[in-house]
Amino acid sequence: MSGQQMKISIIAATDTQGGIGKDGRLPWNCLHDLELFKSRTMGHFVIVGRTTWETMKSDLPGRRVIVLSKNPEYSSAKPFYGTAGCLEDAIKLAKNEGESEVFVIGGQSVYTEAIQMANVLYISRISGVYSCDTFFPTIAMDEWALESVESPYPKDCSFYVCIYRRKC
Ligand SMILES: NC(=O)c1ccc[n+]([C@@H]2O[C@H](COP(=O)([O-])OP(=O)(O)OC[C@H]3O[C@@H](n4cnc5c(N)ncnc54)[C@H](OP(=O)(O)O)[C@@H]3O)[C@@H](O)[C@H]2O)c1
Repeated sequence: MSGQQMKISIIAATDTQGGIGKDGRLPWNCLHDLELFKSRTMGHFVIVGRTTWETMKSDLPGRRVIVLSKNPEYSSAKPFYGTAGCLEDAIKLAKNEGESEVFVIGGQSVYTEAIQMANVLYISRISGVYSCDTFFPTIAMDEWALESVESPYPKDCSFYVCIYRRKC
């Protein structure tokens, strides 16, 4: 996308209390949310923290995965596009490949840093409290506008999606 800005988007699912994970994993099994995650990120670069990557069963086919790690020698049994030693380098890597929208897909430490530079947040809200030990950072409402609230599966009332856009 020459001459245009690359969009930096965060995609996450949280419980009612903002929890995102427990014991290193997603504490819920929400197939509709996984479906949405797949369709939104398909064909794009995704940036993921090393811990989350290692707990993922899938290597995310159709997506180019950049794993964030301070270890420049990092390797994994699952195939991935590359590693980056900091978030800025991961973003540059995607941008240099002509990406139009890069997705930051977690976990907690990566969301906490990336929310400072993201343009859009796609947050699935999962009903219930799951005793999480990792959380999505606070969404400061002086910085973010709630653009829409969507129920992509109207018969499934266990979750809905909030889309936030950074205020100019
Ligand atoms: N609900 C959701 O949508 C969702 C999505 C994703 C993950 N999660 C959950 O989040 C939890 C994991 O979060 P977490 O905070 O423990 O781990 P994480 O953010 O997935 O990974 C942390 C690791 O990533 C690397 N890293 C992070 N920031 C970096 C940076 N700026 N530069 C270089 N490397 C960086 C470091 O790896 P090295 O130690 O190798 O340097 C660090 O130890 C799990 O429970 C997971 O299930 C939930």
